[in-house]
Amino acid sequence: MDEVREIERIIERIVNLIRRGYSRGKILSEMVEDTSIFSREKLFEMARCRMRSREKFGELGERLFLDEESLRYSTPPLIADYRARRLEGDIIADISCGAGIQAIYFAMRSGKVIAVERDPVKLELAKLNARLLNIKNMEFIQGDALSREVYGRIKADIVFSDPSRKPEERIRTMDGLEPPPLKVYDIYRKVTDKIAFELPPQIRKENVLIDGEREYTSLDFKLNRLALYTGPLKRCDVSAISLPREERVTSNDPRRKVGLAEQPLDYLYEVDPTIVKADLLENLAGKIDFDGFLLMMGKRRTLLTSSEWFESSFLRGYHFLTSCKFSVEEIRKELLDVDAGKVMLRFSIDPKDYWRFRKRLEEGLSGSKKVELFRVGERAILAERVNS
Ligand SMILES: C[S@@+](CC[C@H](N)C(=O)[O-])C[C@H]1O[C@@H](n2cnc3c(N)ncnc32)[C@H](O)[C@@H]1O
Repeated sequence: MDEVREIERIIERIVNLIRRGYSRGKILSEMVEDTSIFSREKLFEMARCRMRSREKFGELGERLFLDEESLRYSTPPLIADYRARRLEGDIIADISCGAGIQAIYFAMRSGKVIAVERDPVKLELAKLNARLLNIKNMEFIQGDALSREVYGRIKADIVFSDPSRKPEERIRTMDGLEPPPLKVYDIYRKVTDKIAFELPPQIRKENVLIDGEREYTSLDFKLNRLALYTGPLKRCDVSAISLPREERVTSNDPRRKVGLAEQPLDYLYEVDPTIVKADLLENLAGKIDFDGFLLMMGKRRTLLTSSEWFESSFLRGYHFLTSCKFSVEEIRKELLDVDAGKVMLRFSIDPKDYWRFRKRLEEGLSGSKKVELFRVGERAILAERVNS
């Protein structure tokens, strides 16, 4: 624990110095020493990450040891915990463990975790995080997961890999991932037939070249992750899970066709983009017995409408108020009529124009309603969120 305390102390000191306005140059040249594990530049980076990691990791974030890359790519705790429950096993090998967040959650649920990482600095972060959280059932291996020296040492009933992705790559493919899933699959099938991967959630399904269940994970109504479960881990072809409520829709759920709407009915529903990406809209409709229509469908926003109320964490419900031509004058007239005070823009608009446009609509409004404004073609649709 002493090492953890020592690094903890240095990071806290750097955080204090940054808060007091000291420059990076001054902190690095005069005030901080390297440790046996981390250079002073790395310690500075870790301190900067500490100041920003609460948003992703909650209170735990103020204690975790992360660098820029691991802050960006580590698994958010709610997802890591869910994944650990889905992949509970006797021995799990996480063969590209990064700063160890997912591996630590595996260790909380499984008998033992073997954590492999090629980058020695990341592996040190993973060790520190495990010690910080008092995790004792982890074995750490530094090396290339594709090398014989490493895979020859791994005896596990589940193998998991969350590879690095190149941020600049536009069309997501399996080749752009490190370690490449096809190679991992080839090598580790000799160890176990239960292999799971994290893939970039935007990858096209035809680029997923290994048979398995594609499970799209939504976190707070946003597509966050795509897991691929192979062999006996596969339960269906495609699924979507919504966290934190853990509602699930799968390709095994009965499908129900959703026809096109002529006009909005009493309720509008925004569909979680995760469902659209997973191509499970009809399965969701079948699962909740949705009786209604499709107003619009797109990558960013899909809207359903119905005269009935439906509950699902994959749907965000609104009361329909009114609709009109999409012009500022007409929308303002309707906003006054429905007693609006604020307007939330729920259509694609360049972020730099968002506030200018919203102010034009809100000018002179003094009503009590917070109105949500959608755009369907040349029509404006005004609605009010139903909190459920
Ligand atoms: C996305 S991060 C893993 C994050 C981790 N799942 C978490 O929740 O903290 C991917 C890691 O894979 C490691 N990696 C890439 N290729 C590897 C290889 N051939 N062997 C072992 N690790 C590798 C990278 O160094 C990187 O730290």
